[in-house]
Amino acid sequence: MRVSVISVVGVHAVLAGAASPVDNGFGDGLRNCLLAAVGGNIALVAFQGEPFYQAVAVKAYNLNIPITPAAVTFPKSSDQVAAVVKCAAERGYKVQSKCGGHSYGNYGLGGTDGEIVVDLKNMKQTSMDDATFHATFGGGVLLSDVDKYLHSSNGRAISHGTCPQVGLGGHATIGGLGPTSRQFGMALDHILEVEVVLANSSIIRASETQNRDLLFAIKGAAAGFGIVTEFTVRTEKEETMAVQYSYTFAFGNTSTRANLFKKWQSFISDSRLTRKFASIFTILPGSVVISGTFFGTKAEYDSLGFEDKFPGYANSNVVVFRDWLGLVGSWSEDLILDLGGGVPTSFYSRSLSFNEERLIPNATIDDLFHYVDTNSQGSLLWFVIFDLAGGATNDIPSDATAYVHRDVLFWMQSYATSVGPVSKTTYGFLDGINELLTKPYPGVDFGAYPGYVDPRLTDAQKAYWGSNLARLEKTKSEIDPNDVFHNPQSVQPESGQRS
Ligand SMILES: Cc1cc2nc3c(=O)[nH]c(=O)nc-3n(C[C@H](O)[C@H](O)[C@H](O)COP(=O)(O)OP(=O)(O)OC[C@H]3O[C@@H](n4cnc5c(N)ncnc54)[C@H](O)[C@@H]3O)c2cc1C
Ligand SMILES: *[C@@H]1O[C@H](CO)[C@@H](O)[C@H](O)[C@H]1NC(C)=O
Ligand SMILES: *[C@@H]1O[C@H](CO)[C@@H](O)[C@H](O)[C@H]1NC(C)=O
Ligand SMILES: *[C@@H]1O[C@H](CO)[C@@H](O)[C@H](O)[C@H]1NC(C)=O
Repeated sequence: MRVSVISVVGVHAVLAGAASPVDNGFGDGLRNCLLAAVGGNIALVAFQGEPFYQAVAVKAYNLNIPITPAAVTFPKSSDQVAAVVKCAAERGYKVQSKCGGHSYGNYGLGGTDGEIVVDLKNMKQTSMDDATFHATFGGGVLLSDVDKYLHSSNGRAISHGTCPQVGLGGHATIGGLGPTSRQFGMALDHILEVEVVLANSSIIRASETQNRDLLFAIKGAAAGFGIVTEFTVRTEKEETMAVQYSYTFAFGNTSTRANLFKKWQSFISDSRLTRKFASIFTILPGSVVISGTFFGTKAEYDSLGFEDKFPGYANSNVVVFRDWLGLVGSWSEDLILDLGGGVPTSFYSRSLSFNEERLIPNATIDDLFHYVDTNSQGSLLWFVIFDLAGGATNDIPSDATAYVHRDVLFWMQSYATSVGPVSKTTYGFLDGINELLTKPYPGVDFGAYPGYVDPRLTDAQKAYWGSNLARLEKTKSEIDPNDVFHNPQSVQPESGQRS
C-alpha cells in the first residue's frame, strides 16, 4: 500500500519537474534543496501545485481546516530530516512533522498554509533491549505498529489511547491517555530518551542525563521544539485479563440521564477507586453510554458493584478478554471511533479538565442535560465524553514534564461533526457546554487537553501548558529563537509575540 502511494507521488514529481526543471514556482531554491535533502529521490518530496497534491501527499484529517503546505517531504533517515529542516530554516519556512496525521487542527500539516511538512512514515524502525525491556521506535510509528511490535517482543506494552491510526509521534509528545493510564501513566510518561532534530538541523539526544530541558519540552509540547526521530520507552508487561463493559441507556427523560451522570461522578471520584478501573461516560443524541475497561477477572469486576449502580440500561455488553491484542482491537471498534472515526471528517472539539476540588455540581449536571436536550446542535453526529484519568498519571509532579495537568480526575471532551464546514450553530452549541460547565467556578482555569487541540481557543498555550509555559518559552528562545517549528498554538519564544 505504502509503496504504491510513494510511486504515485514520484510520477507527479517527475511530471512537475519535467515542466520546469528549475525550481518551478519556488524562486528561492527550495525545490532543489529539498530534493537534495532526500537524496535526490523524487518519490520523497511533493510540492504545492502538483497534480493530486492534496489527495496523495497532504491528506488532511479534519476537513474543516483545509491546509496547503509548501511541500511535503518523506525522509528516510534522521540525516535527511535534518537536511530538510536546514533547507526550510535557511529560507524562512516554518516546519511541522507529521506522524499519524490525527491532529484535530491538522497541525501535522502546519495548521496553517505554506509550511514544510516532514512526514515521518518512512521512519518506522523498531528494536527491543531484552535485558531492560526498553524499546525504541522511529518517530513515524503508529499506535498499531507499537502494539504489534511490543506484543511480539515478549508480550510488552505501553499506555496509549484507543485509536490505532494515531501516531506515536503526535501522541507521546502531547499526553496519550488511554485505558491503562491510571496504572502506568500516559504514553509520554513512558519516554526515557529521544533523538531530536533541532531548528539548527543538529541531531541530538535528550534524556534525564543530557539536554534535560529539551526532554522536558518534548514530553508534552514537542511540536514547537523539534522533530523526534526516535523514541526510547520503558514498557510494562501486557495485561492478559480484562473486562470490557458497556451499558447503553436509550430510554428515560432528561432528569433520569442526569442522575446517571451524578452516580457515575460519585463512583469515579471515590479516592479508594482501583487504578485497574477505566471508565468513560458518553452523552450522545438521545442516549448515554457508560463504558470502559477493568483490568482483572470478571469476579473482581462484579465485586466493584459498578453495574448494580446503573440499573435500567437498554442493553449491555460485558466481554472478558484474555489476550492483549484482542482487547486493544476491541477499543478500536469503540463507539466513538466509529462516529468520529479513523477517517477524515469535518469536525470541531473542545475539552475541559475536572479534579477532586472541581467536580460538577448536581445542579449543573441537570443544566447540562437540559441544555443538550433543548438546544440546536447543527450536527447529527455529536457527543460529549467524560473520561476518567487520575491514578498513575497524577503521581508525577506537574513541573516534571511539559504536560502539566497532573491533578485531573476526568476530562470532558465535546465533539461534533458536520457535512461541509462546521456551522456557527455547532460552535455555539459546544461553546455553550463549556460556559455552562465552568460557570460554577468563576475565575478558575480549567485548562485544555493539548492532544485535543482547539484552534479557536484564545490563550491556548496557557490552557495547554499552564504553569510550565514560562520554562517552555525560555527553552524555545534558546533552541528555536526564530520559531522554525511552528503551528498556530505551539510554544513561542520568550520575547516573541504570540500568534
Ligand atoms: C480518532 C481519534 C482518537 C483519539 N483518541 C485519543 C485517545 O484515546 N487518547 C488521547 O490521549 N488522545 C487521543 N486522540 C488525540 C491524539 O492523541 C492527538 O490528535 C495526537 O496529537 C495525534 O498524533 P498524530 O501523530 O496522529 O498526529 P499528527 O497530526 O501527525 O501530529 C500532531 C502534532 O504532533 C507533532 N508531531 C507528530 N510527530 C512528531 C514527532 N515525531 N516529533 C515531534 N512532533 C511531532 C506534529 O507536528 C503536530 O503538531 C485521538 C485523536 C483522534 C483523531
Ligand atoms: C422522568 O422519569 C422519571 C422516571 O421514570 C420520573 O420519575 C420523572 O417524573 C420524570 N420526569 C419528568 C420531568 O418527566
Ligand atoms: C448529587 O447527586 C448524587 C446522586 O443523586 C448524590 O449521591 C449526591 O449526594 C448529590 N450531591 C450533592 C452535593 O447533593
Ligand atoms: C544547535 O543548537 C543546540 C541547542 O541550542 C546547540 O547545543 C548546538 O550546539 C547547536 N549546533 C550548532 C551546530 O550550532
